[in-house]
Amino acid sequence: MKPAPPDRCRVLEVGCGDGMNLISLALAYPAIDAEGVDLASTAIAKGQSMVNELGLSNVRLIPLDLMEYEPHGPFDYIIAHGFFFLGS
Ligand SMILES: C[S@@+](CC[C@H](N)C(=O)[O-])C[C@H]1O[C@@H](n2cnc3c(N)ncnc32)[C@H](O)[C@@H]1O
Repeated sequence: MKPAPPDRCRVLEVGCGDGMNLISLALAYPAIDAEGVDLASTAIAKGQSMVNELGLSNVRLIPLDLMEYEPHGPFDYIIAHGFFFLGS
């Protein structure tokens, strides 16, 4: 395997909540490109206000059901932390 360098990767988090995982990564590694999707628009709005406050341009937080999401991929890493999908 030749994994992408974590400090310069493209990362997606499904069920990102308020995006705190991605915001932390984006702050620590300015060269990453991070995208998060979550159904909870209030959580996304909270994260987005933090993104704006911090002036981060490398994080996108998208309020959407994962089932309707069209990835702006490809991504090097996909995080699904605390996310349980009960699909049919
Ligand atoms: C326990 S939280 C985990 C948040 C974050 N990943 C973390 O580690 O802090 C699970 C999240 O999954 C989201 N979620 C559940 N079903 C979803 C779906 N179909 N599409 C997008 N997000 C979903 C919930 O809104 C919730 O914010």
